[in-house]
Amino acid sequence: MTPQQYDAWYGSPRGRWIGDTEYRLLNGMLAPSASSSILDIGCGTGYFSRRFARDGHAVTGVDIDPAMIGFARAHRVAGEDYFVADALALPFGDRAFDYCISVTALCFVRDERRALEEMARVARRGLAVGLLNRRSLLYWKKGRHGGTGAYRGAHWHTAREAQHLLAGLPLDTPAIRSAVYFPWADAAGRWVETQMSGRLLCGAFLGLATGKS
Ligand SMILES: C[S@@+](CC[C@H](N)C(=O)[O-])C[C@H]1O[C@@H](n2cnc3c(N)ncnc32)[C@H](O)[C@@H]1O
Repeated sequence: MTPQQYDAWYGSPRGRWIGDTEYRLLNGMLAPSASSSILDIGCGTGYFSRRFARDGHAVTGVDIDPAMIGFARAHRVAGEDYFVADALALPFGDRAFDYCISVTALCFVRDERRALEEMARVARRGLAVGLLNRRSLLYWKKGRHGGTGAYRGAHWHTAREAQHLLAGLPLDTPAIRSAVYFPWADAAGRWVETQMSGRLLCGAFLGLATGKS
């Protein structure tokens, strides 16, 4: 899939709904203070980087794919910086950013734990991560047997496994919430989402957020 095709998905009814839902969840959980510096790891085409930048934060995005970074650079909205870099060896000093985020990217990184260690190292105040939930309808539809389409090769976790990934890192106890319960964007699916607090951990998207004291 080209970066253009990937980003165009966020303009489709389903993509727009999922993008909005995931952003609302992660931004609410992280609750970054105004004008924070945020590093977005596995930023892809920069969809979430742009959302945080539009909200007034100073955003840097990194991705291992130069084509994704090229697209993100060409679509800057508020002075974001974008670099090609590996989540497993971030080219930044300790505590270089207020916050680190990573949205459905660690699911494609070989060593997720190592990537989380790197996030914990470069974050000063906290981090938020979006992962794929194995206890979800989406997993049954698109994640089994190695996954199909854009989900091919992705790691899927239960909520407990996701929390375990963060265990032992120099971080506060993570909060965990879920979203995208019915991964089709019809009226019923959207209505269900408005009724859920995120505490029922069976949506396709698992959001984890934690502070760093
Ligand atoms: C599903 S996309 C998510 C992109 C973006 N965060 C979003 O939600 O739209 C996963 C991204 O992770 C990137 N990625 C995979 N392995 C990586 C690594 N080791 N370091 C940095 N980025 C990586 C891929 O290139 C891809 O752009």
